[in-house]
Amino acid sequence: MRKPFIAANWKMYKTTGETNDFIKDFLPAVSSATDVDIVLAPPFTSLPLAAGLLKGSNVNLSAQDIYFEKEGAYTGEISSGMLVDIGCQYVIIGHSERRQYFNEDDETVNKKIKAAKEAGLGVIFCIGETIEEREGGKTEDIIKREVDGGLKDISPDNLVVAYEPIWAIGTGKTATPEIAQETHAFVRARLKALYNDKADDLRILYGGSVKPENISELMTKPDVDGALVGGASLKADSFSKIVNFK
Ligand code: PGA
Repeated sequence: MRKPFIAANWKMYKTTGETNDFIKDFLPAVSSATDVDIVLAPPFTSLPLAAGLLKGSNVNLSAQDIYFEKEGAYTGEISSGMLVDIGCQYVIIGHSERRQYFNEDDETVNKKIKAAKEAGLGVIFCIGETIEEREGGKTEDIIKREVDGGLKDISPDNLVVAYEPIWAIGTGKTATPEIAQETHAFVRARLKALYNDKADDLRILYGGSVKPENISELMTKPDVDGALVGGASLKADSFSKIVNFK
């Protein structure tokens, strides 16, 4: 049985004050959700504060990106070791916004995953196709390329995969549970090609306009093991409803 995994990706939202208010409201609302892994990914500036507030709770902390070098003259960058130092357990790598706006390719994503795992961070590895790719029948080719490239020489431990069709991110257009299941099954087949039976233990999250209203149906699908939530994770009330989907 795969334990559900529900993560909030706050992107470039929330000051430290807003982070503080969210966590104060959120923790009591999810304190009895012990059969689900819960993760918050605030922006870098809120991580130390969030680490303190989440200590001893049932909620883990994630960053949204890292640089792959351990340290050095890389102005503006943050390393995996720095995140471990402040009490972070996970990092999101390969989000489509990083790929699209910051030119991250599969090779960079692969280097970042390696660096994160070497430092002991869990990795939420994101993949997904554009609307043109889906309509052009290229979804499987894209997923194969992203999975094989991103996970080259990477072990499956402490790894979570997030399938996020780009056309569903922030658009209000959720993939139907059927489309999500069909693509998740394909992702799992690719993971099996890399990891054999260990692929059965990997959580594959769905991301793209997940809301309190659609999470339960998505979670009925056999290969949908959780969610990576953007917009609907910004309010404690709506994200706690998603976490408490059962
Ligand atoms: P969304 O974002 O829930 O706002 O569509 C999901 C994501 O980008 O991780």
